[in-house]
Amino acid sequence: MTESGEADTSPVVLSVGGSVLVTGDADERFLPDLAGLLKRLAKEFPLVITTGGGRVARDYIRLGRTLGLTETELDELGIDVSRLNARLLAAVIGPPCPPHPPTSLADAVREAHRSRILVLGGTEPGHTTDGVAGLLAERLRARRLVNATRVPGLFERDPRKDPTARRIDRLDYPGFRKMIETSVAGTAGQQFVFDRLGLESLARAKIPLRIVQGRDLPNMELALRGENFVGTEIR
Ligand code: UTP
Repeated sequence: MTESGEADTSPVVLSVGGSVLVTGDADERFLPDLAGLLKRLAKEFPLVITTGGGRVARDYIRLGRTLGLTETELDELGIDVSRLNARLLAAVIGPPCPPHPPTSLADAVREAHRSRILVLGGTEPGHTTDGVAGLLAERLRARRLVNATRVPGLFERDPRKDPTARRIDRLDYPGFRKMIETSVAGTAGQQFVFDRLGLESLARAKIPLRIVQGRDLPNMELALRGENFVGTEIR
């Protein structure tokens, strides 16, 4: 047990948006810095990281929709892009991170019991990689899940559309559920700060969720370590 009473083997799960990983803006500096941080932290506690597909996934889904692809086919496009990002991050992290990310939840659980650090993308149609992160957090009894996204927390309205929207620093799961229900359609490429399936997994398992701006690495480190951070905490 650690000083805070956390079991040494319980992992921290990090869900990184594709729009944080590959932005076209100084990615060649950001990715090694992120990889270095994750590798360093993995010496202190196990880390499981999911990667989203970001804008590229959304572009493929949008194009596929105009071409008449089914919802399942659209989801599969998104999954493939998220796996591409997982391959990239795993390669930049290097050993001991497995270079071939698991593709199913069962394989990810198995691998997480063997590796101190693990990266994966999507698993199956019907949710986002935040959902994968939530399911894994529940299965692995994670200490917390950190969602690294484009915006610095959960806002009362989308801060990119309304700059006067205020950040919500603390919230409970019933309040968060209400916000998701009123703003997500549940189709491929859905966009909300977190996934409905992920939320239900975390709420069931009573695992706290922390939402941070993914490009601010010192703050992300605080959130991953369980220390005071800037962003939103849901519990
Ligand atoms: P993402 O996880 O990239 O969604 O999945 P997002 O919230 O848009 O991601 P970021 O944070 O900006 O990167 C993209 C799409 O891929 C499909 C869904 O259609 C999802 O909307 N997907 C992904 C699945 O169907 N299953 C998965 O396990 C992962």
